[in-house]
Amino acid sequence: MQVYWNGSLVDESAVRISFDDRGFLFGDGVYEVVRVYHHQFFEWSRHMARLERSLRGIALPGVDLAAITQGADRLLEQFPEADGALYLEITRGAYPRAHAFPPDGTKPTVLMWIRPVPARNMDAWHDGVSVMTTYDDRWAKVWIKTIGLLPNVLAKEQAHRQGLFDAIFVRDGMVTEATSSNVFIAQNGQLMTAPVTNYILPGITREVLLEEAQRLQLPVVQQPFSVEALKAADEVFLTGTTTEVLPVTKVDGHLIGTGHAGPIARMLLDALWSRAG
Ligand code: PDD
Repeated sequence: MQVYWNGSLVDESAVRISFDDRGFLFGDGVYEVVRVYHHQFFEWSRHMARLERSLRGIALPGVDLAAITQGADRLLEQFPEADGALYLEITRGAYPRAHAFPPDGTKPTVLMWIRPVPARNMDAWHDGVSVMTTYDDRWAKVWIKTIGLLPNVLAKEQAHRQGLFDAIFVRDGMVTEATSSNVFIAQNGQLMTAPVTNYILPGITREVLLEEAQRLQLPVVQQPFSVEALKAADEVFLTGTTTEVLPVTKVDGHLIGTGHAGPIARMLLDALWSRAG
C-alpha cells in the first residue's frame, strides 16, 4: 500500500517512525478520518478546518495543509476502490523524551493512508445496535481530535465485553457522545443532539445532518439531554464518518421505540448518501 509520509508517497514498508516520536511517547498529536465516497473525499474542507483547530488546540504551528491536501489527492488517484476512508495523523515529531515542547524547527510527523471500509452491516442497520452508558471520564478538551483515545478505547472494550456495540458517554447526567460518534435522539418528531462545547468532538457528519434535517424541515435543537431522555426517546442513532447513521435500539437493556430502525434515522441516512453522490 502507498502511504503519504512527511511529504512523499512511499510504499508502507519504507515508513520509519522513531521511538522518540512524541505521538508514541506522549500521544502528542492529532488526527482526522475522512470518508471516500465514489472516488471523492466527503467534506474535505470541513475536515481540514477542524484539523486546523485541533492543531491550534495543541499549539502545533507550521503544518502545511495545502501540501496535505495535495498528498491526499495523490493517494486518492492511486486508491483502486470507490469507497474508503482516509486516516491522517500529525504528531509533534521526534525528539529525546522530555515533557516540554521540542525546539522550534523539529519536524512534525505526518502520515496518511486510505483503506477500504468494511462492508455495511445491514442487519445492524435494520435492527439497530445495543449500547451501554458509561461515565465520561475524558479530559475537558475532547473538541481537539487528539490521538490520545485511551478512555474511548477502554469504554468501547467494556461495551464489547458485554456483547454490546458501543458505549455512550454521560457527563453530569447528560449525554455527550459515543466512543467514536455523536448521538442524536428523536422524540415526538423533534431531533436533539448535544450542543458543541469542549465536551464533544464536533462531528462533521453531525454538522452535515443538522443541515439535512433543516432542509427536510425536521425540527432540531442542539441542547443537552439526560440519560432518562435518551432511554425514553422514540429513536436514538449514532453519527460519524465511519458509522454514518446507525440506529440504536437498546440502551442499558432498555428497548428504544419499536426495537427497529426508525423513520427519521432512515431519512437522514438516505440524505447523507444522496449528498455523498
Ligand atoms: N471518529 N465523536 C468522537 C469521539 C469521534 O471520534 C468521532 C469520529 C465523532 C464523529 O465525527 P465525524 O462525524 O467528523 O467523523 C464524534 C472517527 C471516525 C474515528 O475515530 O475513527
